[in-house]
Amino acid sequence: MQLIDTVGRFTKTIESARAMGNSVGLVPTMGALHRGHLSLVERAARECDVVAVTIFVNPLQFGDPDDLAAYPRTLGADVAVAEAAGADVVFTPSDRQMYPDSAAAGGPQDMSGEPVGVHAGSLGRVLEGASRPGHFDGVATVIAKLFAMTGRCRAYFGEKDFQQLQVIRSLASRLSFPVDVVACATVREPDGLALSSRNARLSPDERTAATVLYRSLAAGAAAIAAGARRPAEVTSAMRAELGAEPLVTTDYAVAVGAEHLTPLPELAGAVRLLVAARCGPVRLIDNMEVII
Ligand code: PAF
Repeated sequence: MQLIDTVGRFTKTIESARAMGNSVGLVPTMGALHRGHLSLVERAARECDVVAVTIFVNPLQFGDPDDLAAYPRTLGADVAVAEAAGADVVFTPSDRQMYPDSAAAGGPQDMSGEPVGVHAGSLGRVLEGASRPGHFDGVATVIAKLFAMTGRCRAYFGEKDFQQLQVIRSLASRLSFPVDVVACATVREPDGLALSSRNARLSPDERTAATVLYRSLAAGAAAIAAGARRPAEVTSAMRAELGAEPLVTTDYAVAVGAEHLTPLPELAGAVRLLVAARCGPVRLIDNMEVII
């Protein structure tokens, strides 16, 4: 396994792997790796000759500097588990390597100080984007850079962050990156809680309460299975479940078209149920696919 911290060496290593006829798998992460991330690395290792895991806590996607400062950084452990899961290259660039022309955490800028970056478009402004303005532009910018550095590859992302996945799919296709975006199923605890680096910040009572997100998605899916087709019928089943848990405050519970995450007058085809809720100090998200 090669541990690389400069863009130049990363690009060269991947280019020479490809020149030798190897297919490349890319797993972008912000570290604090858990079993969900490892399932991405393992799948990439099954499907590609060379697997690159990137670990970079991207300042551009954090609106709140305290949130950025509090983000868990566990680089030593991350490198070891990434290697054990099948990574051939672990790329750990500094902020300066990724954004050499940036003023502090302000992101890429041109010579006049104008920001330069990628806009996630309308998909980036709804749901998570409404709660976290600019977040998906930051994600789109760093992913565009990683795609440009890596070149032709398969890139693996978890469905847990479904809106992020759709933003990245749109980015890859609209900006013509030679990248196949591979969606990987959410990894869950036995009680349904989706794995997330944030779960570690839940108290034991909050951890128990957090399972309500999955139960609310299941309640929405059950309403659809029972014949509900009006989004309001489905979301009221989801909200009723969430509302019964006193330690949880609902942010949103929606049933939308899966591709563009837009409201539908009547549910049909590929539908995505998405929830976001605050559990104590931690904001959690989850989602579920329903095909009608
Ligand atoms: O999901 C994440 O860990 C990050 O948003 C990503 C995709 C690595 C971009 O920084």
